[in-house]
Amino acid sequence: MKLTLYVWRQKDATSEGKLEQYKANHVSPDMSFLEMLDVVNEDLLKQGIEPIAFDHDCREGICGTCSQVINGVPHGPEEKTTACQLHMRSFKDGDSIYIEPWRAKAFPVIRDLVVDRNALDKLIESGGYVSVSTGGVPDGNAIPIPKVDADNAMDAAECIGCGACVAGCPNGSAMLFVSAKVSHLAHLPQGRVEASQRVQNMTSTMKELGFGNCTNHYECEASCPKGVNVRFIAKLNREYLKSYVK
Ligand code: SF4
Ligand code: FES
Repeated sequence: MKLTLYVWRQKDATSEGKLEQYKANHVSPDMSFLEMLDVVNEDLLKQGIEPIAFDHDCREGICGTCSQVINGVPHGPEEKTTACQLHMRSFKDGDSIYIEPWRAKAFPVIRDLVVDRNALDKLIESGGYVSVSTGGVPDGNAIPIPKVDADNAMDAAECIGCGACVAGCPNGSAMLFVSAKVSHLAHLPQGRVEASQRVQNMTSTMKELGFGNCTNHYECEASCPKGVNVRFIAKLNREYLKSYVK
């Protein structure tokens, strides 16, 4: 396959960026999107051009690091697929592909396609954990949990913290991410102990960090590579109300 790429190049956080055109002439349909960028980078290095900086780690759809907007869509054209799991057979020979970093106030660009997603870590620090003693594995297994709650907790725990929901939202809202964390723990007895404190802290921290509000566009769910459902935002809202009604 031969492709024309338009890639966002930005030297550092304070420099202005712009789209640069590159030719990718030796692309196999079986390559992942990141492997295609590896090949392009090898060509750039041979020409003495700085390789394109992009984030990646597991390349297995687990870590949530591969943050790229591909042809205007976070993680690219395939539903429920991370950029690292996207294959070049999703494109046609001769295609032009536009590759940009996440665009959100809370995620400043550091270099090229790499953004600072520290804001998501700060949200987790503000409440996305359990600090009560939960005992060992046998204790956990001894607590009966209704199947519907266990299933909901597992569905919410699918979130890999990639930030695509924020990048896809016209308001740059982190509601889907926060709702996944709040719902995951609120469905389990170990998480209920700190549920009120958690939902209040995480929602107020979300505002402080510059994330926008949710106005029901549902772009977050459409962008999510793990299919986290907007019903968790409704659960977040119920948990928020409950936290003020004792
Ligand atoms: S909710 Fe989905 S899109 Fe948002 S951070 Fe989690 S996995 Fe990524
Ligand atoms: S590199 Fe880990 S999810 Fe894509």
